[in-house]
Amino acid sequence: MGDGKVKIGVVGVGGMGEGHCTTMQGIEELELVAVADVSPERAREVGEQFGVPHFAGHGELIEAGLAEAVLVATPHYFHPTVAIDAFEAGLHVLSEKPIGACVGMAEKMVEAAEKSGKVFCVMFQMRTVAGVKKARELVEAGELGEIKRTLLISPEFRSQAYYNSGTWRATWGGEGGGVLLNQAPHIMDVFVMLGGMPSKVHGRCARLMHEIEVEDHAEAMLEYANGAAGYFYASTCEVGQRTLEIVGDKGRLRLDGGRLSFWRFEPAVSEFNRTNTEMWGAPKAERVELEIEECENGHQVILRNFARAILQGEPLVAPGKVGVGSLELANAIILSSYKEEPVEVPIDRGEYDELIERLRATSKFQGDWGKTSWETDPQFKK
Ligand SMILES: NC(=O)c1ccc[n+]([C@@H]2O[C@H](COP(=O)([O-])OP(=O)(O)OC[C@H]3O[C@@H](n4cnc5c(N)ncnc54)[C@H](O)[C@@H]3O)[C@@H](O)[C@H]2O)c1
Repeated sequence: MGDGKVKIGVVGVGGMGEGHCTTMQGIEELELVAVADVSPERAREVGEQFGVPHFAGHGELIEAGLAEAVLVATPHYFHPTVAIDAFEAGLHVLSEKPIGACVGMAEKMVEAAEKSGKVFCVMFQMRTVAGVKKARELVEAGELGEIKRTLLISPEFRSQAYYNSGTWRATWGGEGGGVLLNQAPHIMDVFVMLGGMPSKVHGRCARLMHEIEVEDHAEAMLEYANGAAGYFYASTCEVGQRTLEIVGDKGRLRLDGGRLSFWRFEPAVSEFNRTNTEMWGAPKAERVELEIEECENGHQVILRNFARAILQGEPLVAPGKVGVGSLELANAIILSSYKEEPVEVPIDRGEYDELIERLRATSKFQGDWGKTSWETDPQFKK
């Protein structure tokens, strides 16, 4: 740490892990010192590409003592395992999303982070988009007032060819869920960050278009502790732009893609209701012109922020523990769908783990990591 650089190892150097190794080259505060992958061939290839030692597993990488931090870019089930081992060895951790497949394990990861006192960050780079940052400022400044309604429409189209690119993809054994676990977590994080967590979830998951084990369609009716209502939809069958809407007592915000709009209610709805005497009266909803400063966004912002949190105590844009919220919502929708009834949030961790164990037992993917996407996907055949 002495020369102002964090020595970092990357665990899991498939598509995303290799991408992060490349991005790090442009980040002054980070020095890539090692890579690890369960596929020794893949580990060697990426290690040689970046001129750093390579290891066949995260344990060997940690034991080598070269790294003071790790970035975990394995498939999701391994994020907690790798992170907990790293925290116990006194390393800082940046985990890919989602922080795990099951919320119970994710909580153990947060506990291990807190016990170690090390920096724990999650790669939720959507938090760095200008419109999202501004939306967060509005909510934190109380501009919406008490939340009354939430809406998320998240088309995340993926083709069958995408699913065929990795044997672990979209299987219960390899991934532990579909659109809720892989494609939607970024926007789900923003949804929970702005609208809070529901207290009850009535979900329906389905496979509508793809030949996969897990859901390519998920929807849910949400109920919040104050009685607020929400609707959630995410699908890899639909093409289009994401829409997120949060309506409060004092205003409404809407994100269409990264574009933010905001309406202020004059006066607040509850106040108007108390004071108005006209039969057809209603508060004004005025569109507010927002000053949104364009800014750098993407993986590199989270990587730099992680390094600066270690070096200078810079506040994290996406602290690891926030990863529990969007994962809890994903798990709740799956659990409710399987039970065919609404579930209370927080969900019963043990019940969810049992459901996933049952589904994993039925999966055609039983841990054959030797044939993951870097072997079958043409993008890796350079
Ligand atoms: N933040 C983002 O924008 C973003 C984008 C894509 C993927 N991701 C996340 O990154 C993770 C990896 O996705 P990917 O698309 O790179 O998958 P991938 O299949 O391309 O790569 C995964 C790699 O991990 C290796 N691996 C498997 N188990 C391991 C273990 N226990 N220890 C070490 N290595 C192991 C595999 O051999 C493979 O090389 C996923 O959790 C995914 O959700 C995030």
